[in-house]
Amino acid sequence: YVLGVDLGTSAVKVSAMNRDGEIVAQQSYDYPLIQSRPGYSEQNPEDWVSGTTVAIVRLILNDHIKPAEIAGISFSGQMHGLVLLDENNQVLRPAILWNDTRTTKQCEEITAKLGDEFIDITKNKPLEGFTLPKMLWVKENEPSIWAKAKTFLLPKDYVRYRMTGQLGMDYSDATGTVLLDVKAGQWSQAICDAFDIPMSMCPPLMRSIDSAGKISDSYAIFSGLDTHTEVFGGAADNAAGAVGAGILSPNMVLSSIGTSGVVLKYEEDPTVDYHGVLQFEDHAIPDSYYSMGVTLAAGYSLNWFKRTFAQDESFNDMVASAGKSTVGANGLLYTPYIVGERAPYADADIRGSFTGVDGTHQKSDFVRAVLEGIIFSFRDIMDIYDEHNGDFDTVVAIGGGAKSELWLQIQADIFNKKVVSLTNEQGPGMGAAMMAAVGLGWFKDFQECAEKFVHFGKAYLPNPENAKKYEQLHKIYAQVYEQTKGISE
Ligand code: XUL
Repeated sequence: YVLGVDLGTSAVKVSAMNRDGEIVAQQSYDYPLIQSRPGYSEQNPEDWVSGTTVAIVRLILNDHIKPAEIAGISFSGQMHGLVLLDENNQVLRPAILWNDTRTTKQCEEITAKLGDEFIDITKNKPLEGFTLPKMLWVKENEPSIWAKAKTFLLPKDYVRYRMTGQLGMDYSDATGTVLLDVKAGQWSQAICDAFDIPMSMCPPLMRSIDSAGKISDSYAIFSGLDTHTEVFGGAADNAAGAVGAGILSPNMVLSSIGTSGVVLKYEEDPTVDYHGVLQFEDHAIPDSYYSMGVTLAAGYSLNWFKRTFAQDESFNDMVASAGKSTVGANGLLYTPYIVGERAPYADADIRGSFTGVDGTHQKSDFVRAVLEGIIFSFRDIMDIYDEHNGDFDTVVAIGGGAKSELWLQIQADIFNKKVVSLTNEQGPGMGAAMMAAVGLGWFKDFQECAEKFVHFGKAYLPNPENAKKYEQLHKIYAQVYEQTKGISE
């Protein structure tokens, strides 16, 4: 077996998979979020270790997975979270997570100091969620803790360290620290120097499929695992999710609808310049990258609508009611900026809108407009790919958008591309397990592994007439941002 550890923000989920890519057992364990002040979001790294260990112990005891049969373990990790260690590798303070927003000042300082050079090196704009601004916050606000900090890690790297005793970070997560020189594939001396961060704090870099070593004697006693089990680098959750969804070549784009939405594209060329409008990260697949844009309120838009206007209906019935409306929701347009936006507009102040409201509109038109508006926002991100000649022909839909045939067809029509869903959607944990499977040499590469692990379902093809209507409506949609951005300022 291989174990895929999906270290998320609310829980860890560990999946045991066999060589045929089947999940044989799965266990999860929840842990709390510490939100002591508005904008603060922290977690105790010890909770990740104990949660992961409990899930593994349950796989062994409850699901009868024999430790001797676990050949490898790998990870998918919540990104960007700052774990600071002292000279004895003891945790110095709670981890500051990706969704903690206290670092606006530090982000402004980074831009003021390095401007475009920062984007050239890291391929990203400094955003509150990323790791470097968090380090600068600790340096400024907790100098006595900073003085003791000798190493920093990201969440899953800390769990791997506790399993193996080896410090390391894989490239996909390292890009999310914005301390990596992405083209050079090494920590950036220029950025460390500019912000007075000792290079020695940066852990050794490894690939997602590289072994970090075997389970240590002490962790074997703690967990019941065997010391022959190999532990692999693993990847950032978005990279792992993309691997698990078969995003393994440049003609594939992911469309993922969770609370927020993600459009993610496999990239081969690190010189493509999105100038920070999209995030650009190392992929879990050696020598490749991915770019991604986030729509902050994707599933959140629908949840908000249901909570506010459709409490009496089930979620599925509400989504299905959009079938009673028409392409373009009888002239009603929704922009999903109800909690601000990240891509293509990095604008925390913008707010959403319904335009074209007519006295004859029904609730089903509003639901349809919300489904379409979320996808128009994804289309904005795909248009950026077009502008950079990033041709692709297939969109893999996962999450909420893949659960409704109607929404899958809306995606095909608005993207004007073939859209496929997965028959065995398992999320990033499966991508993590695939990294262990490839790392162990079970398969020669991810393509070969995906033939066993990733199964595409029905393909939804664009209806040319609908695609044409949506093409026109998207032009109107695109004007709404410009016309409404002043309102909330
Ligand atoms: C990406 C990001 C989130 C977290 C969620 O930049 O912040 O996707 O990785 O775990």
